[in-house]
Amino acid sequence: MKLLLLCLGLILVCAQQEENSDVAIRNFDISKISGEWYTIILASDVKEKIEENGSMRVFADFIRVLDNSSLYFQFHAKVNGECTEFSLVFEETEEDGVYTVNYDGYNVFRLSEFGNPDYIIIYLVNFNKDRPFRMLKLYAREPDVSPELKEEFVEIAQKRGIVKENVIDLTKTGKFSYLWFSLPKFPCY
Ligand SMILES: *[C@@H]1O[C@H](CO)[C@@H](O)[C@H](O)[C@H]1NC(C)=O
Ligand SMILES: *[C@@H]1O[C@H](CO)[C@@H](O)[C@H](O)[C@H]1NC(C)=O
Repeated sequence: MKLLLLCLGLILVCAQQEENSDVAIRNFDISKISGEWYTIILASDVKEKIEENGSMRVFADFIRVLDNSSLYFQFHAKVNGECTEFSLVFEETEEDGVYTVNYDGYNVFRLSEFGNPDYIIIYLVNFNKDRPFRMLKLYAREPDVSPELKEEFVEIAQKRGIVKENVIDLTKTGKFSYLWFSLPKFPCY
């Protein structure tokens, strides 16, 4: 356990340093996080996790800051072929913007603002019994973002050791894009 904590500490320190070199990424004012979000891009160094039936192919619907400063996330995802809603509570840590949650292992993640508070980047490291992996996600207040922002996101993912081929633009996958079929915030694919 001590070793695990040491590793977490190191990863977060590294994440912090990498982050400082990205002008577009800034610390997030957590009071602004509440409300609806769309999941725009998922990226991971272990691609199966974000592909069809992968445990991390989950879509955020909304986030709420709880009275005890934990974050309540509501998600939807396809589970055994069915579109399913579920929620998770993310616990805050001593470090600003860093949270932990148990889900397919132990996850530590950092929330940052990307350009402005309408976009957030989540950098997550997962520890499970198989092998640790990392993820980068882009959430936005609207169902899609500009190609420039997406390109910038891909560059940041690459700096984090995630190759371009492992970046999945969810607005371009599946039969229905969010824009195409604006009714469901629920395209489960
Ligand atoms: C904060 O409150 C939520 C909801 O009641 C609970 O699930 C969570 O465990 C609490 N977190 C802490 C650190 O007490
Ligand atoms: C995902 O799971 C569903 C239902 O269990 C299955 O029908 C489908 O073939 C799976 N897809 C992949 C790519 O494994």
